[in-house]
Amino acid sequence: MSQARSLIHDQWSSRLAFIMAAVGSAVGLGNVWKFPYITGENGGGAFVLVYLVCIALIGVPIMMAEILIGRRGRQSPINTMRTLAAQEGAHPAWGWLGWMGVIAGFLILSYYSVIAGWSLAYVLNAASGAFNGADSAAIAALFDNLLKSPAALLFWHTLFMLMTVGVVARGVRSGLEQAVTVMMPALFILLVILVLYAFYEGDFVRGADFLLRPDFGKVFQHCELLPSGEKSCRITGEPILIALGHAFFTLSLGMGAIMVYGSYMPATASIAGAALVIVVADTIAALLAGLAIFPIVFANGLEPASGPGLIFQTLPIAFGAMPGGQLFGTLFFILLVFAAWTSAISLIEPAVAWLVENRGLSRLTATASIGVLAWLLGIGTVLSFNLWSGESCQLFGKTWFELVDYLTSNIMLPLGGLCIAIFAGWAMARASSRDELQLGDGLRYRSWRFVIRYVSPALVLLVFLNAIGLL
Ligand code: PHE
Ligand code: NA
Repeated sequence: MSQARSLIHDQWSSRLAFIMAAVGSAVGLGNVWKFPYITGENGGGAFVLVYLVCIALIGVPIMMAEILIGRRGRQSPINTMRTLAAQEGAHPAWGWLGWMGVIAGFLILSYYSVIAGWSLAYVLNAASGAFNGADSAAIAALFDNLLKSPAALLFWHTLFMLMTVGVVARGVRSGLEQAVTVMMPALFILLVILVLYAFYEGDFVRGADFLLRPDFGKVFQHCELLPSGEKSCRITGEPILIALGHAFFTLSLGMGAIMVYGSYMPATASIAGAALVIVVADTIAALLAGLAIFPIVFANGLEPASGPGLIFQTLPIAFGAMPGGQLFGTLFFILLVFAAWTSAISLIEPAVAWLVENRGLSRLTATASIGVLAWLLGIGTVLSFNLWSGESCQLFGKTWFELVDYLTSNIMLPLGGLCIAIFAGWAMARASSRDELQLGDGLRYRSWRFVIRYVSPALVLLVFLNAIGLL
């Protein structure tokens, strides 16, 4: 049965191909764009520490759980959850977990594509020499002008969505696999070059201090830059929820992306080893991005809490001033687009796999349908930065973009991850997870099982209860 099913989709050509694809999914805008600015808004080092704890105690075990569920089910997350629930004698309602993931992926893609569009626009800016010799005010103006124009944002959003649909439509092997293999290592090299630049030319001590030294007074403070240019901070437990949500977001967990990639994984590859490589690569990428950005922020008197525009307002200063900056800048934004691209394809893959399995659609039709829907929804994000940015267009003090981001990262992904942990730890028989993980029955397997049953769910629950004010 599962043999026949697995023939619907291609498989990864090797264990390495799976790892590359999963790293491609994990490393993306979350690392380079989102991690620095949410760290800036939530006080720096203490926030980073909470994030790292979430990665280690929740991210790694849940990553293993998602891969093992995917590989055992061998189908789209929706059908995988249904099949495994039936096999394990659990309630058929577990299929809903797959559905929630499909919806989360589609919501995330809708804004992810808009931000990736900014990166596309910046490839052009960099290549045309727009950063050369520009000071921070000129760089800020460049960014503001982009955000002010719904037409420009829509154009880049459309282009990025077409790129994503194009690759996914070609299928797992020829489409998804090839894009990652060259681009990921190149992105790491460029990030290292930027950190070196920040080391010599930025305020490295202050930047590194901000990123790495925990000041717990600050983890309970969330700051924003008001449109007036004033900074407003309030005491709240929210940064902890944001750190947890970001741990899921950055590792692509809680919505079935890693699960569906796991379903294309060769049966003999080590799940624990793969999970570790993915998590380490993702974490290094985020820390490098932070170490590149904050020294430039402080050296130029910029504000760490300046929000989603942070990298677009800092890195161009470096490119404008460094020798060869026009070339490096262009290359950097090209690589950022690629990082976003390899993540975006994993955001629609769960939905596409399901449409192919259950509706018998071709990959092209399935991908295009999801792409059109996410594109339409993305228009709300396009307008969040201009026509709909005013208070009259906000809900709970958040723009459309902020709402979709909050709902997915801070609620849907942790909730999805919690359910995945409960399924792998409680609903699945011990023998099933043990066979799939192939870690033997010793300490390594037992510690994983203990953490996935008790530690990860308890931590996620604690943070949720805290966020809704019950704790
Ligand atoms: N992990 C990706 C990033 O950090 C985003 C993502 C989230 C991709 C969820 C797939 C699923 O940019
Ligand atoms: Na990431």
